Amino acid sequence: MIGTPRVHLRLADSTNERAKELALGGAPHGTLVTADEQSAGRGRQGRVWTAPPRSALLMSVVTRRLTPTLPVAAAVAICHALPAACEIKWPNDIWLERRKLAGILVEGRPQDGWAVVGIGLNITTEGFPEELAEIATSLRIAGIELDTEAVLASLLASLDEWLEAPEAEVLSAWSQRDALRGERVRWADGEGVAAGIDASGALVVETEDGRVALDAGEVHLSPP
Ligand code: BTN
Repeated sequence: MIGTPRVHLRLADSTNERAKELALGGAPHGTLVTADEQSAGRGRQGRVWTAPPRSALLMSVVTRRLTPTLPVAAAVAICHALPAACEIKWPNDIWLERRKLAGILVEGRPQDGWAVVGIGLNITTEGFPEELAEIATSLRIAGIELDTEAVLASLLASLDEWLEAPEAEVLSAWSQRDALRGERVRWADGEGVAAGIDASGALVVETEDGRVALDAGEVHLSPP
């Protein structure tokens, strides 16, 4: 069961770091690490993840059931856990009203059969730093008042369901929440129109030179 055993830390460097340490020590599938606060929270692509103490759900889960679509399933699980019309911005940002509500950082050792799914979800966060003010949101900003433990309970149940769901079902649920489909996007080497994801979770983009599949990195919405 996802969420058992659970370790809660008042202050962690990074819940992903703590969960990875537990995984290396043999912690079972489903082991959960949560924290009130992180001193070295990490985001994708070497970015920092910060949140004022107790304002966000900060959690990492050890999984020993690996599938190519693990991050895709985690994104779907977050959307289904919340009473809000969330969308997923490839690869796995959770958007609410076109602003980032949550992020996912999957790390691990597939060759050793485990991964850690780290999730940061803004619950009561307000007053984001200037560089995030226009692009981030929280449940509170969207008018949804929920307790962190209530969100955690709902998310654990959703992860239990979606991490075990058949891949076709996961991909179909992802498509229904796809924030980019039909949008013009650009990335380091090109631009085109987003056309969903393939079976491996890669973003399919229609370009002037044909279809390409982006399996890693970052895309941005092109200005209108
Ligand atoms: C991203 O959007 O770039 C991913 C952000 C992931 C942040 C969470 S917070 C809990 C867990 N511990 C970390 O250090 N990172 C993840």
